[in-house]
Amino acid sequence: MSYKIAFLPGDGVGPEVAAAARAISVAAAEKFDIPLEFHDYDFGGIAIDKDGDPFPPETKKACMAADAVFLGAVGGPKWDGGGLRPEAGLLELRKTLGLYANLRPLRIVPGMEEMSPLKSDRAQNVDMLMVRELTGGIYFGKREEGTEFASDECAYSREEVIRVARIAFEAAKGRRGKVTSVDKANVLATSRLWRSVVNELHAAEFSGIELEHVLVDAMAMKLIQAPAAFDVVLTENMFGDILSDEASVITGSIGLAPSASLGDRKAGLYEPIHGSAPDIAGHDKANPVGAILSAAMMFRHSFDAGAPASAIENAIETALSEGFGTRDVGRSDTCSAFSDHVAALLSR
Ligand code: NAD
Ligand code: IPM
Ligand code: MN
Repeated sequence: MSYKIAFLPGDGVGPEVAAAARAISVAAAEKFDIPLEFHDYDFGGIAIDKDGDPFPPETKKACMAADAVFLGAVGGPKWDGGGLRPEAGLLELRKTLGLYANLRPLRIVPGMEEMSPLKSDRAQNVDMLMVRELTGGIYFGKREEGTEFASDECAYSREEVIRVARIAFEAAKGRRGKVTSVDKANVLATSRLWRSVVNELHAAEFSGIELEHVLVDAMAMKLIQAPAAFDVVLTENMFGDILSDEASVITGSIGLAPSASLGDRKAGLYEPIHGSAPDIAGHDKANPVGAILSAAMMFRHSFDAGAPASAIENAIETALSEGFGTRDVGRSDTCSAFSDHVAALLSR
């Protein structure tokens, strides 16, 4: 039996960073003797151009049958003019696969504090896991589109909060034992439900974990002021989208940040947190680290293979500490040169 990966390169820098992640996955799979099969499918803007649908039926069928889905990125100015949007395909993919928990680890590579835009002492020891709710909230509420009036409803049910909060508390057990739940309970009804359900679950099942609640505006500030204070950060869909971009840059660049989107099945979706970066696409300049570390998460979460995951993570750390890296982290490698170097380190 081999693990089947539905491979969706997507748009912009998506194909560039996804190719790097695929090459590193193949190298790690060979080294640890794990049989993998990659199968390519159209997704996003390129699928709109070819098939008139950002998430065509053939792609959907393959994603539902796969052991894991790997995505580069989608979107770009070409599809911003109205009509079908690549991003709608991504939301449908997450919803179709029931991937309600988006895990975004954000960690400064020890010794690499110089990559951070923060002063080195503040960047030191940053190591957090953002757990972002991914299939509810304002992204999926009732929507009214219009030129005179428009609305986006934000809704959450108790069950939607419980299942993602449980993932955050469980993750904290294997880390430093602290969860920061972020909401806007001073204004929003959904946030008041969020906070009370998180408190209930904490009291019932996770009282050994330290829990704090922080309002989202203050969180935006605290992330800059003292990012090392956070362990697991639990939040709803849109707050998590925004705060994870902010936190990623504290570790050096958005190009470094991976993600895993998980539900109740073993199969997950793996993608870097960044977008299609149209400003650098096509120039072999993109940082592939977020995509490569997403592949490591795929081995760990969907294939129960911790050894190749750790080997990939170690190779990335070694490459960065030896001075390799792309321009966004102040180094001079191309995307493909950096990826080749990581592959060479892996097969050592
Ligand atoms: P973006 O993340 O694509 O880019 C933001 C900035 O970060 C740009 O300056 C870009 O050059 C830089 N950047 C991003 N990834 C990088 C990498 N790997 N290496 C080096 N630099 C990198 O965000 P945006 O510009 O707001 O969005 C562009 C498009 O991507 C939009 O269409 C948006 O909807 C889409 N998007 C897709 C995803 C996804 O597919 N998961 C995520 C975010 C945005
Ligand atoms: C992300 C992206 C997506 C989101 C967009 C492209 C739909 O920004 O994965 O963070 O908002 O979830
Ligand atoms: Mn985002």
